[in-house]
Amino acid sequence: MTTAMSEEYKLVARPGEIPFARGLEGVITAESTKSYVDGIGGKLFYHGIPIEVLAERSTFEEVVFLLLYDRLPTRGELAAFQERMAAEREISDFVYQLVAARAGMPRAHSMAVLRSAVSCLSGFDAAAESDADADQEQEAVRIVSQMATVVAAIGRARAGLPAVRPRRDLSHAANLLWMLTGRDPDPYEARVMDLLLILHADHECNASTFAVVVVKSTLADMYSAVVAGIGALKGPLHGGANEDVMRMIKEIGAPEQARAWAEEAIAQKRKIPGFGHRVYKTMDPRARILRQYAEEMARRAGTGRWLQIADALQATIQERLGAKGIWPNVDFYSGIVMASMGIPEELFTPVFAVSRAAGWVAHALEQAKDNRIYRPRFVYVGPEEAPYVPLEDREAPGPREGTGPAESQEKPVGMENPDARKRQQAEGPARERERKFA
Ligand code: ACO
Repeated sequence: MTTAMSEEYKLVARPGEIPFARGLEGVITAESTKSYVDGIGGKLFYHGIPIEVLAERSTFEEVVFLLLYDRLPTRGELAAFQERMAAEREISDFVYQLVAARAGMPRAHSMAVLRSAVSCLSGFDAAAESDADADQEQEAVRIVSQMATVVAAIGRARAGLPAVRPRRDLSHAANLLWMLTGRDPDPYEARVMDLLLILHADHECNASTFAVVVVKSTLADMYSAVVAGIGALKGPLHGGANEDVMRMIKEIGAPEQARAWAEEAIAQKRKIPGFGHRVYKTMDPRARILRQYAEEMARRAGTGRWLQIADALQATIQERLGAKGIWPNVDFYSGIVMASMGIPEELFTPVFAVSRAAGWVAHALEQAKDNRIYRPRFVYVGPEEAPYVPLEDREAPGPREGTGPAESQEKPVGMENPDARKRQQAEGPARERERKFA
């Protein structure tokens, strides 16, 4: 029996030899009717409707309908859909208890608590494992509805307060504020929360949506797919950046310090949270819209200083990195808007998730209509043949070779085989190449 690779096996190379798109940049993964990002023009459309129009005239519930069904609802359909979403808001006591227990763990990030809770929600959905279209669609609506309840419960538990049950008479946004505070929401704040939910609802093939559709493409259930999306959104390169932006603004401390802070960050080649985007090479239109609302929110909450710091930082970054395509993204102003509403930093990304859940489930259902499992390739750049060295013969790798776990001071851990190494040196790189493409 030979263990050598098949002659047809082409994706074997030295590092850098076969080009590929790092981070799948520019790679088209599927067709979609949901949203379109014009990264050069700085435009975003949900099913052809500009985000500015939706921000001004729509509601989150209407946007969820639009994303799910690819059209705006009639007046009657919208009322029925709002009622349908509202009817799905309640979650089991068990999930509240799980949230309270999990939120009490000092090291548990709120997104980690959300991940656990959404996973748990599936246990209370009788249709969770059904692949019938109607069940999948109902799960999609249920998940979008219940995410808000879970996030509010996390916020309350984190603050050491009892959970506030959802109300059916409020919009999704107003109900979220109600569940967070236990007070009738201020109409302006409810409107701004609605705006936040509209703006974050979908964004084409972003990392978390891609994670969702990859999991859904295996025919896993909708909850598993959404949990994958939560995991991806948590990262600081994606949704987690909104938390980092607020920390950065507080660290800068004063508008007059923003330039020096930015210069130092640029000199150190640090990635500045809330700036840059894989697709936008100009101002993210959502950031532009949020900047307008941030002004009024900051005026009402007396948080104008944060906005001044943000504006001063933005001016420097634009001057220094704008030509390179580094502009504010959605996360830059969303934190200031949420903080001005009294939402704690640790809930910024979970609130983002409440909204993005709409895009996640819409794309998952869309891709499921013509499903094919996602299964791309890696270029293999490891050794083509390697001996299995008996444990007792293994030596620690040299300082430049180690790729295993951190070196232990007590006992060497490694995979080097001195015989194989001597043989490779004798054969030289040419022979190694030959073997790879033999
Ligand atoms: N600050 C400073 N420089 C940056 C930034 C930034 N925020 N973002 C990118 N750059 C620079 C890089 O250093 C790199 O420069 P170089 O070519 O001289 O090496 C160049 O721009 C390209 O950067 P990449 O990292 O290759 O861009 P990529 O498309 O892979 O990453 C990302 C996009 C992750 C958004 C990146 O811009 C970033 O890390 N931004 C900060 C985190 C952030 O705000 N994330 C939220 C994005 S929006 C969202 O997900 C909701």
